[in-house]
Amino acid sequence: MATIVLVLTALLVIFLISFFKIAYDTISCYFLTPRRIKKIMEKQGVRGPKPRPLIGNILDVADFVSQSTAKDMDHITHDTVNRLLPHYVAWSKQYGKRFIYWNGVEPRLCITETELIKELLIKYSSKAGKSWLQREGTKHFIGRGLLMANGSDWHHQRHIAAPAFMGERLKSYAGLMVECTKKMLQSLQNAVESGQTEVEIGEYMTRVSADIISRTEFNSSYEKGKQIFHLLTELQSLCHQATRHLCLPGSRFYPSNYNRQIKSKKMEVDRLLLEIIQSRKDCVEIGRSSSYGNDLLGILVSEMEKKRSDGFNTNLQLIMDECKTFFFAGHETTALLLTWTVMLLASNPSWQEKVRAEVNEVCNGETPSIDHLSKFNLVSDDLPSFSISIPFSLKIQNSGRGGK
Ligand code: HEM
Repeated sequence: MATIVLVLTALLVIFLISFFKIAYDTISCYFLTPRRIKKIMEKQGVRGPKPRPLIGNILDVADFVSQSTAKDMDHITHDTVNRLLPHYVAWSKQYGKRFIYWNGVEPRLCITETELIKELLIKYSSKAGKSWLQREGTKHFIGRGLLMANGSDWHHQRHIAAPAFMGERLKSYAGLMVECTKKMLQSLQNAVESGQTEVEIGEYMTRVSADIISRTEFNSSYEKGKQIFHLLTELQSLCHQATRHLCLPGSRFYPSNYNRQIKSKKMEVDRLLLEIIQSRKDCVEIGRSSSYGNDLLGILVSEMEKKRSDGFNTNLQLIMDECKTFFFAGHETTALLLTWTVMLLASNPSWQEKVRAEVNEVCNGETPSIDHLSKFNLVSDDLPSFSISIPFSLKIQNSGRGGK
């Protein structure tokens, strides 16, 4: 009897301690820490809009953005900050060059002074990285891929991904890019020949960039790659709503229709990716193939195997997350840049003429190739460059991200 009482008392104590710990952590995370940060910032003169409990300024930002984007732009302008980040504009006017607002319980410190930004990037780069909310919001979509990795994980993952973006490797994708672009141009021409007088150019650019990434990432498994990208596009739009669903503590564990949809799509993407990776590994193991493939996926798998033999612990989930990250990071960005460029050329006919003349002169009727690229002065210097070296060089100069 005494033993039972002792065990029950011990269990009760453990339960109470765990309960109070969880309760304290929750209160600390959602109330005490935000209040402490707010006070520290206020002492330094950094203020901002009043946050609401748990959701911070999320609704204020949504209000600002829905007002600024309610109407179409009446003329083309490059000054899109007012439209896309109206809360920044309004709050910096009200609270000055440094202000703070709250994305849920996470603070966002906004700084606009160039010197301060430089100092932050150079001196405190090890403290920079993706926040918990950002990582949670994209967890089911791109997982712990490069874009969301912090600290030593980021360094490690960068090493694995780097060979896929070396100059020679990128050049080897040129043929695929030309092939996909020709296909897109043909369908554009068909639309025009069938009497269509207006086309939604963004759709064509989205299709061509998805096609190029599908090919470069999964060349030999292209058909499965297309299925994966279709699912990823759906997952991406579902995850866009993530901030709304993350507002309430623990809401992501609730088996809502939204959460179930995300989970089932993520599982389907992972299943397809795993099938491709496994079949490539099997081919190498039984000697049917000497490499995992020359596409991005093949390079990632072979780097993973190399690093594994060097003692690094890399798992398949990470490779799958990187594949999803490349799609996410490279797809919409490129499509939007292309669409914007086409829109600018369409609205500036004199530039269109100049660019067309240069392309005709350099290519002289041939299909554009890598060798032609260096000869384009106007296209490469004056039009937006499609180089993906921008984000990468930024991170290299900064030496890394800290904190996990
Ligand atoms: C016009 C096209 C592109 C633009 C404007 C662009 C822009 C950016 C920016 C601003 C970042 C930094 C994001 C952050 O850290 O929060 C980034 C990171 C990244 N981008 Fe791009 N990108 C483009 C194309 C691509 C393409 C085609 C790929 C790959 C297929 C790609 C892969 C990545 C990856 C993997 C990262 C994370 C790098 C790291 O954290 O080390 N991007 N990109």
